Amino acid sequence: MRMYDIIAKKRDHMELSAEEIAYWIQGYTKGEIPDYQSSALLMSIFLNGMNQQETADLTMAMAASGEQLDLSDIRGIKVDKHSTGGVGDKTTLILGPLVASAGVSVAKMSGRGLGHTGGTIDKVESIPGFNTQLKKEEFIYNVNNIGIALAGQTGNLVPADKKLYALRDVTATVNNLSLIASSIMSKKIASGSDAIVLDVKTGSGAFMKDTEEAFQLAQEMIRIGIGVGREVVAVITDMDQPLGYAVGNSVEVIESIETLKGNGPQDLIELCLILGSYMLLMGKVVDNIEEGESILRKKLSSGKALKKFEEWIAHQGGNIGVINDYHLFPKSEYIRPVIAKDTGTVASIDSERVGIASLLSGAGRITKESQIDLGAGIILQKKIGNKVKSGEAIAEIYTNDASKINEIEETVLSAYKISQQPVQPRKLIHGIVSKEGTKRF
Ligand code: URA
Repeated sequence: MRMYDIIAKKRDHMELSAEEIAYWIQGYTKGEIPDYQSSALLMSIFLNGMNQQETADLTMAMAASGEQLDLSDIRGIKVDKHSTGGVGDKTTLILGPLVASAGVSVAKMSGRGLGHTGGTIDKVESIPGFNTQLKKEEFIYNVNNIGIALAGQTGNLVPADKKLYALRDVTATVNNLSLIASSIMSKKIASGSDAIVLDVKTGSGAFMKDTEEAFQLAQEMIRIGIGVGREVVAVITDMDQPLGYAVGNSVEVIESIETLKGNGPQDLIELCLILGSYMLLMGKVVDNIEEGESILRKKLSSGKALKKFEEWIAHQGGNIGVINDYHLFPKSEYIRPVIAKDTGTVASIDSERVGIASLLSGAGRITKESQIDLGAGIILQKKIGNKVKSGEAIAEIYTNDASKINEIEETVLSAYKISQQPVQPRKLIHGIVSKEGTKRF
């Protein structure tokens, strides 16, 4: 078999066999197939697509590229959740401790930022001392003892995705249904959780901008999950404006802590409650979503979820002082307000542009080797439906790179549309996909 022939086949719109896909994935993982050939194949897949069989074969080849975690030493049902990627999406930081405080074990594998979207591993690394490279024994110990552990894609867990994720990030090949489905599901299969809640984003900040495509992505991932005997539910959620106000790393951790203290933005709380209720349902501690939501609200208002957050941070070596002293987080040298030029109501916020502004501020990677600035990012002051006066700040930029401030400011300004008409906010939840079928709201 030759990589050249596999690339040419996909370039010419032909179907790849399971053997050809496995040859590519194994060869690339071992370093025998170079980045430039994998990039060419990724672009051919991006342009010409993969069918359901190819997507399933790619998922299984990736899942088999390294170790498969056996979590059977963890008592009870292990529940994981995964987002297809958004801007300001800090739900894991809130949901993990929230759901664990309600008695469901959370064994969470997370990733780094991708394209214009952020990643949980980058965010938690802004907590001084936080260790995302837990050994398997530490991971299992923490889930058994405090109900939660979070780890990055350590050495040998789906190494194929680790390499491909970084390559897709810099070759404009991220937002393809088969590549996203196989990337997410290979990690979920290899990381051994019994039940998975998928948060499939749609809108300007999502990889699937079109809602129908987001439903198709959800259906593909559910099919793959069912095929390997996992319980999977997908919630289709809105990403037509950033979630909450903060976009970056430490700024998002701070907003998450505020949410756990009861001061969170409405959209973020609502999303955490719905995803969390499904996690409780799949963890079999409640019989329906309403009961789940009522338990989670109590865990938030009683401070139990915040207490669990503290326990979790401490067990992963993080400085729990950050919870009450935000000065302990990395800071940016420059803070610049973005000033509105018009008066009216915010009609839309292009989340991808805000994600790009955050990336330019230093909070994301421009090349595979880029070092992240953990204190950088954007804090929005206005969201859709808010009234704005000309001369008022609509956002704040945090950066250490003075040379980029004007470009970042222009990018944020161009993301906002101010209207003279009243604006109806979009709904947050568009539907649910599960083995029972698809519900649209
Ligand atoms: N999240 C992933 O893990 N992979 C993708 O391709 C997109 C989002």
